[in-house]
Amino acid sequence: MSLINLIYASSAAADLKLVDLEQILEASVRNNKPCDITGMLLYFGGGFLQALEGEETAVTAMYRKIESDPRHQDIVVIERTPIESRSFPTWSMGFKYLGFEDSSKREAFRNLMDNGFSSVTRDVKPGAALAMLREFST
Ligand SMILES: Cc1cc2nc3c(=O)[nH]c(=O)nc-3n(C[C@H](O)[C@H](O)[C@H](O)COP(=O)(O)O)c2cc1C
Repeated sequence: MSLINLIYASSAAADLKLVDLEQILEASVRNNKPCDITGMLLYFGGGFLQALEGEETAVTAMYRKIESDPRHQDIVVIERTPIESRSFPTWSMGFKYLGFEDSSKREAFRNLMDNGFSSVTRDVKPGAALAMLREFST
């Protein structure tokens, strides 16, 4: 039994529609609970930031499925670390669609808004991605 978290950022497919987001969330609710995976998904400015946490084998298998999904590309794994406890224990997959309002109000995203979503993958410091996801899960 070893618990890990895996955080990645990706770019959404150019033709991504609202219905795609709805289908991703439906699949997450349906599939994550039976695998005991919890986490948080942010959609922001054409990009995704997602944390998956659970048993290593379950998280790895789910990530393999997600990384081959044509609804996003340019996936960069930011963190993949053993954890003692979950950051999102009550969420099968929390979701937040971030707009300008959120980013200007929240410190964690101000820098991101200024520099564009791709700065997440370039400049992210250890722990910063998790901090952003946690900030938007409340
Ligand atoms: C950004 C992104 C995040 C996703 N997150 C999840 C997830 O947490 N759980 C999940 O089951 N599918 C997720 N998916 C969808 C999977 O890639 C896949 O389409 C889905 O699991 C298939 O479900 P099914 O086997 O029940 O048809 C995600 C897809 C994208 C593009």
